[in-house]
Amino acid sequence: MSEISPLLPRATQYGRPSLMDRIKMFFTLLPLPIVIIWSFLFKSGKTKSKKRVVFDRSLRYVVNSLNVRQLQHVMGTTRGVYDAWCKRNNLGPDVEGVGEGANLLWVGERGLDKVIIYLHGGAFLLPPFTYNLDFFHHVRTVLRQRGVNASVVLVEYTLVPEAIFPTPLKQAVAAINHLMNLGVDPQNMQLVGDSAGGNLVTQVLAHLLHPLESERVPALSLPAPFKGVYVLSPWVDLTNIFKTLDSGEDTDFLTVRTLTSWGSTILGPVSAKNRDYVEPNSAAEDWWKGVDAFVDRVLITAGEDECLKNEIIRFHSTFDNFHSHAKLVVQDEGIHNDPLLDFAVGKRDGSTTQFIIDWLTIGFQEPTS
Ligand SMILES: *[C@@H]1O[C@H](CO)[C@@H](O)[C@H](O)[C@H]1NC(C)=O
Repeated sequence: MSEISPLLPRATQYGRPSLMDRIKMFFTLLPLPIVIIWSFLFKSGKTKSKKRVVFDRSLRYVVNSLNVRQLQHVMGTTRGVYDAWCKRNNLGPDVEGVGEGANLLWVGERGLDKVIIYLHGGAFLLPPFTYNLDFFHHVRTVLRQRGVNASVVLVEYTLVPEAIFPTPLKQAVAAINHLMNLGVDPQNMQLVGDSAGGNLVTQVLAHLLHPLESERVPALSLPAPFKGVYVLSPWVDLTNIFKTLDSGEDTDFLTVRTLTSWGSTILGPVSAKNRDYVEPNSAAEDWWKGVDAFVDRVLITAGEDECLKNEIIRFHSTFDNFHSHAKLVVQDEGIHNDPLLDFAVGKRDGSTTQFIIDWLTIGFQEPTS
C-alpha cells in the first residue's frame, strides 16, 4: 500500500505528482508568505487569535490551490502522519491489523476498557492532520484525569485512488468487529469522525439500517447499541444538492468549488443505488428510521462560518426525527473542523472543545444498558 511503483499508472497511485505537478506546486506555494503577511495585517477574528486567523487563511490558500496529487504528496500517508506524531510525542507506534487492509493505530497506549474509535476526515483523499491526533490525545488525557479509562484508536483506511467506496466502510466495519472480538462492548465504544470521517460514521449507521450485502461489506451485528456517535463538520452533501453550500465561501478553508470537486471524485464511481450511503442528504426522509436502536447518544457540531453549515443543520433536522438524543451545536465564528484547527495553534480550551469533551465523558460515565 502506498509504495510508489513506476510500473503502475500514476493515476492509480497515492500521492504521486507528475513533474509538472511538482513544478506548478513550487510556483503555487511561492506567494504563501504574502498570504501570511497579508492576513496578519488585514484579517482579524471576533474571538479568534491572530495566530488562528493567519493559520486559517494559509490553510485556505494551500488547500484550494493544490490538486489532490500535490496535497497527498505534501501531507504524506496516514501511517506517515501517525508515525511522525508518535515520534514527536515519544510514544511507541501501536499498529494492529483488522483485515480488509485496515489497521488500528492507537493514539496513546492501547486499552480496551472504553474506546473512542476515530474515523478521520480528508475527503477520502487525504490523511488526517497531526493536530487532529493532538486533539484526540488531549480528549483521552482529560477523560483519564476525570477517571474515565478511555483510549483512542485511529482507523487507517485506504484512500483514493487506491480504493473507493465501499472500501473505507468495509474497513471501518472490520475495525469495529475486531474490537468487539477483543471484548469491547459497543456500550463502551464511541464512534467519532470529522468531515469525511463523519460521512464514514453515517455510512456505518446506514449499513446497520440497510445492510449493504450486495457490495460484500462485512455484516455488523451489535450486541448492544454504540454508547455514542459524534460527528464534527460531517460531509453530508457532496454535490451542493440544494445550492445552499455557500454559507462559508469567504470564511471557510474549504470553498464550494473544492468541496464539490472532491465530491464528484468520490461520488463519480458510486452507482446510483448506493448514493444515499455516501451522500446522506440525498437520501429519502425516512433513511434514518430505526437508527435509535444502534446508538444511544448523538452529537453533531458545525461552524457558523463553514460552507457545510446549512447542510449539517438539514442533516440534523432529518436525523432528529428518528433519534431523541441527537444534539446539534453550531459554533459561533466556527469554520470547517474548527475545534481541531485550534490545536494547530496550540489552543486547547475552546468552548466547543470543552463541550465535546464533556459530552464524551458523560457518555462513558452513564451506566451501560
Ligand atoms: C484501564 O483499562 C485497562 C484495560 O484496557 C486495564 O488494564 C486497567 O486496569 C484499567 N484501569 C482502571 C483504573 O480501571
